[in-house]
Parts: sequence; C-alpha cells; structure tokens
Amino acid sequence: MATVLVTGGAGYIGSHTCVALLEAGYEVAVLDSLANSSAAAIDSVGEIAGRRPRLYVADCRDEPALDKAMAEVRPDAVLHFAGLKSVPESVADPIRYYRHNLESTAVLMAAMERAGVRRIVFSSSATVYGEPDLLPVPETAATRPANPYGSTKLMIEQMIADVVRADSRWSAALLRYFNPVGAHPSGLIGEDPEGVPGNLMPYLLQVAVGRHPHLPLYGTDYPTPDGTALRDYIHVMDLADGHLAALKHLETSPGQTHTYNLGTGQGVSVLEVVAALRGATGHPLPYEELDRRPGDVPELWADPGQALRELGWSASRTLADMCRDAWAWQSTHPQGFRGD
Ligand code: NAD
Ligand code: UD1
Repeated sequence: MATVLVTGGAGYIGSHTCVALLEAGYEVAVLDSLANSSAAAIDSVGEIAGRRPRLYVADCRDEPALDKAMAEVRPDAVLHFAGLKSVPESVADPIRYYRHNLESTAVLMAAMERAGVRRIVFSSSATVYGEPDLLPVPETAATRPANPYGSTKLMIEQMIADVVRADSRWSAALLRYFNPVGAHPSGLIGEDPEGVPGNLMPYLLQVAVGRHPHLPLYGTDYPTPDGTALRDYIHVMDLADGHLAALKHLETSPGQTHTYNLGTGQGVSVLEVVAALRGATGHPLPYEELDRRPGDVPELWADPGQALRELGWSASRTLADMCRDAWAWQSTHPQGFRGD
C-alpha cells in the first residue's frame, strides 16, 4: 500500500484527510509547523484510525527538514495542505501571504524533485473564481481572485502545472474546495480556529457554546430567495474522500495536471445554515443583521460534474450531517484542542 506525506496534516482539513487515508490503508506521515494547529489533533487521528501518523514538526520552507522527512518517509505522493488561509490577513499583509504560500510550495516541490517524489495533491480554493459569470461554476470558468490569499492559490496552481508541463514524470491534482464544514462523526477532531472565526460555521458553533452572544449576519439584501448569500457547504469527510479519489487517479495519469471542484453543487443560504444548526444544537442562535461584508460574492456554488466523471467522486453527506458532526466536535471541545 502506498505511503503519503501530508503537509499541514494537523490542521482542519488535513487531519480529517489523514483519518480517511489511514482507514483506506495508506501509510501516513505528517509535516506541520503547528503554526495554526495542535499535535493533539494527530493523537486524535491516531485514536480514531487505530494508527497514529508520524509527525514531523517542521515548516515547509525548511529544506533540511523536508529532505530528512522525504528520506525517512519515502512517500509515493504528497498532499499539500500547509499554508496561510485568512482572507483579511492576506489583504492586510500581502507580502507575508505571497512569501509564505508560494515559498512553501516551491521549497516543497524542490525537495520532492530531489527525492524523486513527483505526485502532488494541492489544496486550492473556490476563491480563485472571484465573482463567477455563471452558476454552477465549472473548472473552466474565468479565474479572477479578489484578494491576495486567492491570488496565492491561483499562482500555486500555475506553478504546479508548469512543473508538470516541464517533466512528464510529475502529476498533480489541484482541488478547489468550496466551503468545508463539519467534522469527523466521532467528534474527536474538528475545526479549531484561533481567535474570532471569520467563517460562518465556526462562528455559529461558538455562539452555540456561549463564546459569542450572536452571529453578525453580513447582508440580508442579496438577490437570493431569503436575501442572504448562497454558498456550497461541503462535509469535510466528503472532501477527505475526494482527496483519496484524486490520489488514486494520479497513479494512472502521469504527466497530467487535473483540476477539480470539490463541492456538492447546491447553493445554501446563511439563514438555511442557521436553521440547520439550530436543529442540530437546540440553541436559538440569535443573529444581528448587518451590512454586506466587503469582498463577499452573492452566490457561489460548484459544478462538481468533472470530479464525478473522472474520479467517480461526489459528495453524499447532507447539511444536517454537517451540522450534527460539527456539533459533536464543538459541544465536546468548546475551546477546541487548546482547551484539552
Ligand atoms: P488549517 O490552518 O487548519 O491547516 C493548515 C495547517 O498547515 C496547519 O496545521 C498549520 O499549522 C500548517 N502550516 C501552515 N503553514 C505551514 C508551513 N509553512 N509549513 C508547515 N505547516 C504549515 O487550514 P485548513 O482549513 O485545514 O486548510 C488546509 C488547506 O486548504 C489550506 O491550504 C487552505 O488554504 C485550503 N483551503 C481551506 C478552505 C477552508 O475553508 N478551510 C477552503 C479552501 C481551501
Ligand atoms: C470565505 C473566504 C474564501 C474561503 C472560504 C472558505 C472571504 C471573502 N472568502 O468564503 O476565500 O475559501 O471562506 O474558507 O472571506 N457570514 C456571516 N457572518 C459571519 C461569517 C460569515 O454572515 O460571521 C456569511 C458571509 O457573509 C457569507 C457566508 O456567511 O455570505 C459564508 O461565509 P464564510 O464562511 O466566511 O465563507 P465565504 O465567504 O464563502
């Protein structure tokens, strides 16, 4: 069975993907700086899967550390989750974001090349589309990211595609995630944001455990049925399964770069999320109606057809599943891993 190195594997999506990889029989090692995560996540991954991945606490920009990990792990492929991901931070300090995200990937790929590891699955984002011309958004839609974070994702996609074009021994999957939410159903791992969450679901979960009095609801005058913005929320375990499908596909497609939207194909409003989470938590989840948040698009959801056709993957978990599993995590870890 194959061996994989997971950068950023202690983080939210990486840790859930580690569980899916271990359960599918992969040998898994994680390289993570723990800049935005905790080693406790790796312990919990081990508890769920019955095998704990080896953890290298290191930065992707640290060449000697990468060479050491590559030599010891001898992976067949790398799943690259590591990076900075806050939109407002990237607007405030673009140089930090360009340096961190681009450098991490370039240094990682150079180390992969030295080690003869030429298969990569990259965490991209639907944010590369900006405001779409058509819905649902296919992978062929125009890309025009509206913030530096999104630009780093698009530039990294281009960097990876150039490497594959230059040497057909490489292959890559660029996975454009829509809005990942939820948690492993065990409730042992989940999203653990530092500070006040900028995203909808983690903020609402913190309202449910009493860390905030109400949700700031950004925008009730969008041209949508209930006036709130529509997004494509996807269960993080469906997303994890998408990585496994992409990884398998790379085994049989050297010399190619594949780009896939990972979403459900359904647009869901902010108020629909609030209602679903009320159902899961039993909490009234009050909100305060505010103006639109600058930079938000009214509607964004995926055409996930290409992933179905080429990978045989589609999301199967419902919004109710996402809320139930997110609550299993948040209700048992009200302060996240930091409170453990
Ligand atoms: P996260 O912050 O929970 O996980 C990222 C992990 O990478 C963290 O454990 C962090 O400590 C680590 N890390 C950061 N920089 C590093 C570096 N230079 N070297 C080693 N480790 C480093 O974030 P997440 O939500 O799990 O996101 C994972 C990836 O998916 C990111 O690349 C993110 O941009 C992308 N993505 C996330 C979302 C989302 O909504 N969460 C949506 C689209 C794309
Ligand atoms: C944000 C990021 C995007 C990233 C995605 C997934 C921005 C502009 N975009 O997208 O790059 O890929 O997260 O992590 O930040 N909302 C509230 N109150 C809140 C938080 C959010 O009303 O406290 C609303 C937002 O206005 C939006 C919806 O909920 O309409 C979803 O917001 P969020 O979870 O932040 O995701 P995106 O805006 O889609």
